[in-house]
Amino acid sequence: MAGLAVSATNLARAYLRGGRTIEVLKGITLALTPGSFTVLTGPSGAGKSTLLHLLGTLDRPTSGEILYDGLPAPEKKDRDLAAFRSAKIGFIFQFHHLLPEFSALENVLMPTWISGKKEEERDWARELLREVGLGERLDHKPSELSGGEQQRVAVARALVMKPALLLADEPTGNLDSHTGLEVFTLLKTLSGRFGMTCLVTTHNETLAKKADRSIAMDDGQIR
Ligand SMILES: Nc1ncnc2c1ncn2[C@@H]1O[C@H](COP(=O)(O)OP(=O)(O)OP(=O)(O)O)[C@@H](O)[C@H]1O
Ligand SMILES: [Mg+2]
Repeated sequence: MAGLAVSATNLARAYLRGGRTIEVLKGITLALTPGSFTVLTGPSGAGKSTLLHLLGTLDRPTSGEILYDGLPAPEKKDRDLAAFRSAKIGFIFQFHHLLPEFSALENVLMPTWISGKKEEERDWARELLREVGLGERLDHKPSELSGGEQQRVAVARALVMKPALLLADEPTGNLDSHTGLEVFTLLKTLSGRFGMTCLVTTHNETLAKKADRSIAMDDGQIR
C-alpha cells in the first residue's frame, strides 16, 4: 500500500448556533507527504478533531479545499464517497468503538464485511492481530480484553483495509503512559512498514517528539 498525499488549503469550518457563527477552524493550510507520520497537538478546543473529521471526509469545510493525491474527494451526496473513504482512509478514535458482541477477529473484519470484501481477508486480519500482539486473543470479546488490548484491536481494524491515510484522534488518550507509548509505537512501526500517511492527535508531548513532524494548533489555526 502506498501513502496518500494530502493537501489542505485555507480550510475554514464554522458552526451556526443560536444565530451566532462560531469559527472553529480559521484558515488551515497543511500538506502531508505520502508515507509521513505527523503528530497534531494543541489545547482542548483548538480544533484538532474538527480538522481530522474534515481530512477524513466525515465533515465538509465551510470554505477551502482538500486534495488527495491532487484530487478532491467525491461530493458529499455522491455514493462514491463512502467507497472512497472505506478504500483509502482508516480511523482510530480515543474510544475504540469496538462492537461488544463480536470477537477481536470479527471486529477487525467488520470494515471488510461492510465493503463486501471476501473471506480471504480473514488471514490478513489474523496476521494483523498477531502483529499487534493479540495472536492469542482472536476469540476474545472486547469485555475480555484490557484497555490497551482493545485499542490494539482498533489499530488492527483501522489497518485491515490497507488505508493510504490513517487518521488517529487521541488513540492513546485513555491509556496509561506505558500502554499509550506501546500503542503509539505500534502505530508508527506499522504505518512505516506499510508506507501509510499518518496523522495522529495527542496531548502527550513525549509522544509528539517521536513523530517525524509535529504540527501545533491553537484556536483554529496552526501556530
Ligand atoms: N457541532 C459543533 N457545533 C458547534 N461547535 C462545535 C461543534 N463541534 C465542535 N465545536 C467546537 O469547536 C471547537 C473545537 O472542537 P474540537 O473537538 O475540534 O477540539 P479539539 O482540539 O479536538 O479538542 P480536544 O483536545 O478536547 O479533543 C470547540 O470549541 C467545540 O466546542
Ligand atoms: Mg478532539
